[in-house]
Amino acid sequence: MQDLAVFGGPRTVPEDMLETWPPLTQEDRDAVNAVFDSNVLHGTSAPNAVALQDEFAEFIGAKYCLVTNSGTSALHMAVASLGIGPGDEVIIPAFTYWSTAAAVLHHNAIPVFVDIEPDAFCIEPSCIEAAITDKTKAILPVHIHGMACNMGPIMEIARKHGLYVIGDACQAHGAKSDGKKVGSIEDTCGFSTNRSKNLSSGEGGLFVTNNEDAFRVAGRLREFGEVVVHGEDREYNAYGMGWMYRAHEFVNAFCRAQLRRLPANNAKRQEFAQYLTAELADIPGVEGPYTPPNREPVYFSYIVKFCPEQLGLDVPVSLYKPALQKALAAEGIGLGQWQNVPVPAQSVFTDKQGYGKGCPWTCAHYGREIEYRGEDYPTTIKFIAEHAYLAGVFPPNTMELMERYIEGFKKVLSQPAAIMKLIDEAKKA
Ligand SMILES: Cc1ncc(COP(=O)(O)O)c(C=O)c1O
Repeated sequence: MQDLAVFGGPRTVPEDMLETWPPLTQEDRDAVNAVFDSNVLHGTSAPNAVALQDEFAEFIGAKYCLVTNSGTSALHMAVASLGIGPGDEVIIPAFTYWSTAAAVLHHNAIPVFVDIEPDAFCIEPSCIEAAITDKTKAILPVHIHGMACNMGPIMEIARKHGLYVIGDACQAHGAKSDGKKVGSIEDTCGFSTNRSKNLSSGEGGLFVTNNEDAFRVAGRLREFGEVVVHGEDREYNAYGMGWMYRAHEFVNAFCRAQLRRLPANNAKRQEFAQYLTAELADIPGVEGPYTPPNREPVYFSYIVKFCPEQLGLDVPVSLYKPALQKALAAEGIGLGQWQNVPVPAQSVFTDKQGYGKGCPWTCAHYGREIEYRGEDYPTTIKFIAEHAYLAGVFPPNTMELMERYIEGFKKVLSQPAAIMKLIDEAKKA
């Protein structure tokens, strides 16, 4: 048996093997250079902005799309374009990136958190109804780690209570729930195209909807609250609050080139994930993600569960996980942490100091006492403690890297005594 790399043995994954995301090609460079040549750099009617909107709407199967300068701005537009505002409550999962909740706060609305599914880590539909009050206006499911939420029951609850559904699909371009792409099901939805995302343009966002009114309002919000019509004189009149959420033509052109390759890139992520999950199932001590039969994830992140009991180790996961991460990292297998606590445990919520002076919670129009406590979300806490994401499960990496990963997992997990040694060392330190 080979020594683990962490104890001086050979490393399983060669140092230069891991490629970064996104894969860049001449097509991307040509697209950006063509913008230089065209000299049209700006504007919501610029050719790449308009074409990207049409192409992404078609990809999702939604009627309307607006390109924005971030996922957060797209989400803010998704909230505000439905008329949700000061004092309205929006139900969101405790496990997400906090930008989801920020998009609600940006319009002085109040996030109300609920826990997640124990197996598929998205918002738990059975927790939603208990969180509904007479102030609730919308449910905001987050399709997290590339996994689509269980949209059937969520839409049913929304219909029963007369609520809107707003999607956060920042991590899930192309993921499906009951065969339908996320973004085509909800009333409005926001996507991010920042560097790490399945559809990447460096920075950027996309808002989609089937609702013509929401589309019109979102257009105003994107551009200072004004109505700007291509080819017509500018009115210079703001109809309400608006922001500067326009995207740059370089980014739009780059995003279009990436969008053409999104289906192939997602298919590669799925192929790698299926292979890894099948292989990890035979390696006691870790597990791949569970996929409910009605969902088709796009694996923004490939997550791994840490299971000490499968190795017969009587140690808490809080000691087992870092020891295993250390051993695997030495083999060249990176397992990163994404989120440390439920979002409602972050200071902005526990201290309720959004804009300062307690706003928006203390504003007169809200008038309800709400407390945020991380411990109210035990499934989120358990999920965060037991999981990490595996680096590099995307193209241009190849199946060869996935095979090396499995080799490394087998090597490390076949040596529980060595893992225990690392745990004992950590305890002493
Ligand atoms: C779930 C989720 N929501 C919202 C965002 C915000 O997107 P952006 O960083 O493009 O504003 C991100 C990404 O950072 C995200 O992962």
